[in-house]
Amino acid sequence: FSAFLTDTFGRRHSYLRISLTEKCNLRCQYCMPEEGVKLTPRSQLLTSAEIISLAQLFVKEGVEKIRLTGGEPLIRPDVVDIIAELRKLEGLKTIAVTTNGTNLTRLLPSLKAAGLDMLNVSLDSLVPAKFELIVRRKGFHKVMEGIHKAIELGYSPLKVNCVVMRGLNEDELLDFVSLTERKPLEVRFIEYMPFDGNKWNFKKMVSYQEMLDRIRQQWPDLKPLPAEGTETSKKFQVPGFQGQVGFITSMSDHFCGSCNRLRITADGNLKVCLFGNSEVSLRDCLRAGASDEELLQIIGAAVGRKKKQHAGMFNISQMKNRPMILIGG
Ligand code: GTP
Ligand code: 5AD
Ligand code: SF4
Repeated sequence: FSAFLTDTFGRRHSYLRISLTEKCNLRCQYCMPEEGVKLTPRSQLLTSAEIISLAQLFVKEGVEKIRLTGGEPLIRPDVVDIIAELRKLEGLKTIAVTTNGTNLTRLLPSLKAAGLDMLNVSLDSLVPAKFELIVRRKGFHKVMEGIHKAIELGYSPLKVNCVVMRGLNEDELLDFVSLTERKPLEVRFIEYMPFDGNKWNFKKMVSYQEMLDRIRQQWPDLKPLPAEGTETSKKFQVPGFQGQVGFITSMSDHFCGSCNRLRITADGNLKVCLFGNSEVSLRDCLRAGASDEELLQIIGAAVGRKKKQHAGMFNISQMKNRPMILIGG
């Protein structure tokens, strides 16, 4: 495995998350400040050719999985072409997308034909009015339709991401678990994380332990499933249910020790940790005509600066970072 993609703690970064756009058709409270964010001028965003050439380099060094994020990746007009190009990269095993689901029904057939392997969909409420309160836009029925269509097309088990926030959707935990009874879904409850502009505070966060306790009051026999190496979620299943339940415990029980992720932002910065604010511009290197070897030196130096773990929830809530919309999760 590439020395450039291995950090000082021996973690091998074989998973690259690429943000395709800073734009989104929703305005989720946990992701984006109400007033929106200042968008990078188009000329400073990575072109699809730049994305593919960076992806090619990372895959050559050992990246096996690429996840496309955003903003909302499916509003980028050339998303299908990008997937088709990625599909040609030898050594790349998995192409995945994380989406808000509003455009899925329309795009699924072409995404599938282009070679998309895996799909994660965000859904924070099963009550239309609550959904609209959280995402500050309409779209609930489109997302549900997209989820069903995705399962139909074989994206199963489909991961559904639910960011749990106190006073907003915490009362829906059991309904989300019930959804896994007859559907091949992995519902993943995510601890609310702090990013610039999302007004995080400790009280709004519902911890893994609290969620687990509440679910176990209804289903005492909720069963832990064996952990898979570098996954973000701790998995469980209600015996007899078709789907699974996962918890992404970034705040109360981080999983940095097994982190294998790197990120490239839509404006071309390499970000080695979700909560790290030191970034390096790969776009500027590419546009200055850097060779692969020069790019790898820069990538390797950034990976070498990656910290052992994030600084703890209170420290990261104070630090300067991007708003989530400009990172991509
Ligand atoms: P898989 O690739 O299917 O395992 O999904 P994923 O969990 O890596 O990606 P997804 O985009 O669905 O993100 C779900 C949640 O996990 C979001 O809240 C992300 O911010 C969070 N997440 C993803 N990667 C990391 C990571 O490296 N560190 C931390 N702390 N959280 C992450
Ligand atoms: N805390 C936790 N998860 C978040 N996501 C976005 N913002 C936050 C946050 N503040 C999740 C979304 C999406 C994924 C990419 O990141 O639910 O599914
Ligand atoms: Fe990896 Fe940083 Fe997430 Fe920890 S917080 S798992 S080091 S990206």
